[in-house]
Amino acid sequence: MKYKKIVLLVRRSKVSKRKQIDLSIDKIEEQEKYIEAIHRMNEGLFNRTGYRKSYFCTTFGCQMNEHDSEMLINMLEAMGYVQALSEDQADLVIYNTCAVRENAELKVYGNLGHLKSIKKKRPDMKIVVCGCMMQQPHVVEEIKKKYRHVDLIFGTHNLYKFPELLESTFNRDKIIVDVWDVDGEVVEGLKSNRKFEIKAFVNIMYGCNNFCTYCIVPYTRGRERSRKPGDIIDEIRSLVKDGTKEVTLLGQNVNSYGKTLEDDQKISFAQLLREVNKIDGLERIRFMTSHPKDISDDVIYAMRDCDKVCEFLHLPFQAGSTSLLKKMNRHYTKEDYLKIIEKAKREIPNLAFSTDIMIGFPGETDQDVDDTIDICEQVRYDSAFTFIYSKRRGTPAAKMLDQVPDDVKHQRFERVLEVVNRISGEKNANYLGKTLEVLVEGASKKNEAVLTGKSRHNKTVNFTSGDKSMIGKLVQVKITDPKSFSLNGELVK
Ligand code: 5AD
Ligand code: SF4
Repeated sequence: MKYKKIVLLVRRSKVSKRKQIDLSIDKIEEQEKYIEAIHRMNEGLFNRTGYRKSYFCTTFGCQMNEHDSEMLINMLEAMGYVQALSEDQADLVIYNTCAVRENAELKVYGNLGHLKSIKKKRPDMKIVVCGCMMQQPHVVEEIKKKYRHVDLIFGTHNLYKFPELLESTFNRDKIIVDVWDVDGEVVEGLKSNRKFEIKAFVNIMYGCNNFCTYCIVPYTRGRERSRKPGDIIDEIRSLVKDGTKEVTLLGQNVNSYGKTLEDDQKISFAQLLREVNKIDGLERIRFMTSHPKDISDDVIYAMRDCDKVCEFLHLPFQAGSTSLLKKMNRHYTKEDYLKIIEKAKREIPNLAFSTDIMIGFPGETDQDVDDTIDICEQVRYDSAFTFIYSKRRGTPAAKMLDQVPDDVKHQRFERVLEVVNRISGEKNANYLGKTLEVLVEGASKKNEAVLTGKSRHNKTVNFTSGDKSMIGKLVQVKITDPKSFSLNGELVK
């Protein structure tokens, strides 16, 4: 195979805050020119041959990445691409990658390996990799060395430039690499192709300043930057106008929202919740992720007072042991965490909880795992994401000498998982006979006659005796058959 020449563009300059804000509109307009040009090209092809170019986008990782992919897809569709049925048939394949754990990284390399033979047969296929993994120089080097059939690599800070970058891959036999090592400015005006119109993700901030010692995110997503409250409210208003009923406010640590705003627009996360709650036509507000060190009483009071804010709190604790939390740089103790939960339970009746738990952090002992299990038993989470610690190059924890052997990690993981699953099953069983408000999202994948949606507590509820006109509406469902991971019920007429 002919090797490609590599064009490497690594940006190092920072633009001043004021300039960043003024530049945003121009930047979007500039990209729209590329979108139009590619659209014209694709329409020309369609008119000549009846063939429409297609894309296939695979997203790894968190809701932030999901949302970024929605924006990439929106740009692609504006350029005249249609969704392919499978990756192998697509003219353009995108991997929006995640760097948080090794597994997701290995999967990307595996998939890229698979695409090599397909691209040999179909050399016009374009392969794009973007997202958090690309912010790590050793990953870019690896791809440049071993996966030279990739056409375009870009990072998390310059997503809005995708049309221009894509255009630069046309008729060129080179890998284009455009990864910025600075915190991306907040570029407003990008539209996203949201998966559910009924529910939408809304970024309220980007990046993270916390540097938990295991976590790669501050290195891949950069420092914390908050969007202006006016921009957030405008976006939600326009979503609601288009039929959205529920928004999830997204950030790595939403509780520190507002810290980077100019004085004349500075508001806290609690105030933002109260402002969003005033939007007419919006039915539900969710948010994630919260950091226990930053969640203020005001946030709990806002949750209590705002009728649209759902009774659901995702509050990752990672580990129950205070000494391990210190080593993780989490800035709270086991007792601090439990006090927040106690306060939240007191102020908000029927509040549902979820969390992130990490097993196998360096130095973890069996007693530390007992502390983790103790928190699970005391809080009684409705759901929990349990992760096995994964060594991330460049993070302080990767250099710690007391790494836990894999077999011990797996045994402890199973122990915790058993407790977590037992408790979520018990919590679901409590819903038997109760009537819940459900936002209907669509027909169940398994059975067209069954509708599915979410309760305010974020439970998946499947129910019979409804009809498709209810999609997008709030209905009351009586729970008749609670399962471990969902609730089944009947529509209350
Ligand atoms: N290994 C395993 N899990 C991790 N997380 C973050 N970094 C790592 C890592 N190195 C988990 C944390 C975080 C969630 C999003 O991912 O639990 O809350
Ligand atoms: Fe990672 Fe910690 Fe920031 Fe969450 S708060 S993104 S775990 S560094």
